[in-house]
Order: sequence, then structure tokens, then C-alpha cells
Amino acid sequence: MNENIEFLQAFLKNPLKVGSIAPSSPELAQQMVAGIRPNEESVVLELGVGTGAITKFLQDIVATRESYLGIEIDRTLVKLLKVNFPALKIVRGNACDAHSTHQKTGLGKVGYIICCLPFVSLPNDVGEKVLAEIDKFMEQGCVFRTFQYAHGYYFPSAIKLREHMRNRYGKAKRSPLVVKNVPPAYTLTWKTVQSEKG
Ligand SMILES: C[S@@+](CC[C@H](N)C(=O)[O-])C[C@H]1O[C@@H](n2cnc3c(N)ncnc32)[C@H](O)[C@@H]1O
Repeated sequence: MNENIEFLQAFLKNPLKVGSIAPSSPELAQQMVAGIRPNEESVVLELGVGTGAITKFLQDIVATRESYLGIEIDRTLVKLLKVNFPALKIVRGNACDAHSTHQKTGLGKVGYIICCLPFVSLPNDVGEKVLAEIDKFMEQGCVFRTFQYAHGYYFPSAIKLREHMRNRYGKAKRSPLVVKNVPPAYTLTWKTVQSEKG
């Protein structure tokens, strides 16, 4: 089945969790993976894999199967993802449990989080739990990247995410607006600030 139709079906089933009517465009996916170099000691964790619009690009840059972990909550999407990406480790799970899910896999340290969760439409408590999980990875040294749609950039939950990250990890690196995406979006990247000792 066509990826757009699979995505739309997932959206119609659960609009708030999916948060968009179309998968990310190749242009947004390229921005999301730009500059990242995952390997077994610096694993990339993808939260909210969807139909794999970004995963396709991650697949080309991960060094080995042990360099990637995808977490997706929708059972039907996970079944499709396992068929379409047999070489990648994709689990059905909740991003609210991302840290323990990663620990159970026995994979190496997470060096990158590629987060595609629709914070704007997720319930407040879910957003807060996910941010707490992200902090656990950031404490261990990590790059966090997400996208925010231009039309929702000043929605309270979008601002809340940026404030949460800025207060802990400083100012984000924001990409130019990716206009070839429905809807247009920015990517935002934060890096753990390593404290200098000695
Ligand atoms: C905006 S879509 C992004 C999909 C894909 N990465 C893309 O960019 O096209 C958000 C995805 O996050 C998933 N999702 C929502 N809440 C989640 C949660 N708590 N844990 C894991 N996945 C979740 C949805 O099922 C959906 O597939």
C-alpha cells in the first residue's frame, strides 16, 4: 500500500497521536538526519517512526543494525515497519518509557535522538513524561533533534518544549524553514553541554 495512504489511515484512527496528515517529506527527512553519524557506541534513537519517512534516510547512514533503535506506539505501523525495514530494530512501545526500552535492548549509548512526536497534540502529561525521558539520555551526552511545524511554532506546547530544552541545554540550532513539507517545518537541535572538569 502507498505510504501516504498508510499514514492517513493511522491519522484517521488516532489524529492526536499521529499529529499530521502526511509523512515527512524527503526534504524534511534530510534536514532531520543532516550531520549525524550513528554507530554502535553512539546509537540513534528514533521516537515516533510512523511509516518510516525519516527512517529511510537513517537506514542509509547507520553503521550496523546495532546503531539504530526505533520506538513507535501504533501496532499496525510497527507491523509494516518490520516488513519494510527488516535490518533495523523497531519496537512497539511508548516514548514515555524510552529509557527503559533502550536499556532492555542492550544496545550502546544513545548519541542521537530523532524525535518526530507531535508534542502539540499530545496530552500534557505525555509530553512531560517524554521530556523527562529525553533528559535521561541528554544527561549521558546526546544530540536531540525534533521538528516543529511553522503554523504551530507559537502554540503553548511547542513553546513549552523549546523552553524546557533551552533552560537545560541552551539555545537550539534552528534550520531554515523546510517549505517542501506539508506543512512547512523547522528542525531544532540541542546538544548536551559537557561540563569542563579539571
Ligand atoms: C508526526 S508522526 C511522524 C512520523 C514519521 N516519523 C514522519 O516524520 O513522517 C508521529 C508518530 O509518532 C507516533 N507516536 C505518538 N505518540 C507516541 C508515543 N507516546 N510513543 C511512541 N510513538 C508515538 C505516532 O503513532 C506517529 O506515527
